[in-house]
Amino acid sequence: MGAVNETITVELGDRAYPVWFRDGATSELIERATALATTGRALVVTDETVAALYAGPFAEALRARGARVGLLVMAPGEAHKTLETVQGFYEAALATGVDRATPVIAMGGGVVGDVAGFLAATLLRGLPFAQVPTTVLAQVDSSVGGKTGVNVPAGKNLVGAFHQPAWVMADAGYLGTLPERQIQSGLAEVIKHGALADPALLRRVARTAPALRRGDATALAQVIAPAVAVKARIVAADEREQGERAVLNLGHTLGHAIEAAAGFDDAVTHGEAVALGLRFAAHLSRARLGLPADDVAALEGALDAVGLPRDWRRWLTPDVIARVARDKKVRGDCVQFVLLAGLGRPRLEPIPLSELSAAAAALAA
Ligand SMILES: NC(=O)c1ccc[n+]([C@@H]2O[C@H](COP(=O)([O-])OP(=O)(O)OC[C@H]3O[C@@H](n4cnc5c(N)ncnc54)[C@H](O)[C@@H]3O)[C@@H](O)[C@H]2O)c1
Ligand SMILES: [Zn+2]
Repeated sequence: MGAVNETITVELGDRAYPVWFRDGATSELIERATALATTGRALVVTDETVAALYAGPFAEALRARGARVGLLVMAPGEAHKTLETVQGFYEAALATGVDRATPVIAMGGGVVGDVAGFLAATLLRGLPFAQVPTTVLAQVDSSVGGKTGVNVPAGKNLVGAFHQPAWVMADAGYLGTLPERQIQSGLAEVIKHGALADPALLRRVARTAPALRRGDATALAQVIAPAVAVKARIVAADEREQGERAVLNLGHTLGHAIEAAAGFDDAVTHGEAVALGLRFAAHLSRARLGLPADDVAALEGALDAVGLPRDWRRWLTPDVIARVARDKKVRGDCVQFVLLAGLGRPRLEPIPLSELSAAAAALAA
């Protein structure tokens, strides 16, 4: 499959947009960004790490083409995905000069994308937006779908807006500088999308895992593009998460609880927590929906090949289960779990809180 140079369209009517898959397409990016900057101005949002690698030179190249570019650089990391960071960007953007047609171009991981998208959604009541995701997670997940936002002390992603980009350029050439652990974490979302709607993708991940873990651009593009196709279809069917989009939470109900219990530091990354949640969901699906053992093995085999953690049973602690019970997805006295009747056949399953501890204990045994 020639994933590089492929285009996937997110079908959202008059707001439909392309996701371009590329490998080292720097000059095309400069062309596209220049074309988007119709009034000769642009804001490039990034973090310090990506500024040094890619976004600094990108901003310089735009300036060399005559654009007036504000380069907005945040400190890297989830801890800086805050309103303070956005406030600083509002002031810097207004000081450098911004008009209603000035595009905000996010270049970085999911943190940068979420902050830049929120800036674009709110500054002057909405600016054009484009995404240049530079992590596996951002290419496969956060750059597509239009969710933007920041964390507040009460919780992650509680303040935000839907704001779809004009386009996404997913260039695998950026991924070679990522630490292996970041690549592995992003691949957990690829595996999630495979389990939801593309079982063949699980086999490809398992087969090409060594190249994926090395950051091989071609191998990565060949699993990222089909995973984005899954997300694009689901988002197009349910842009604002009224229904079907909720299946994207597969592995995330337990995953978020594990992340929170681990304290959102480096002990467990988001993708590692999702991997543990996917394994739990597979075993719970087997117990409640009869998910075939071969399907459980295919899902776990892909996670194993990528080197994602296996010890999910250890995380079924009373603290983690109590956090699941406090999850946003609790309706009445049931937790909404995404389970699988088969690979490619997700089901939303309400599980009564009264059964949750017993179900977890039975699986942990
Ligand atoms: N909007 C959505 O739909 C959505 C979906 C999933 C996740 N998210 C959000 O995404 C965020 C996580 O994204 P992430 O995992 O990309 O984290 P991140 O943005 O923090 O990036 C991880 C680290 O990699 C560095 N980095 C980025 N690109 C690099 C490159 N090419 N080479 C070397 N280093 C690089 C960054 O500086 C950072 O230190 C979370 O805040 C999460 O809430 C949003
Ligand atoms: Zn996720």
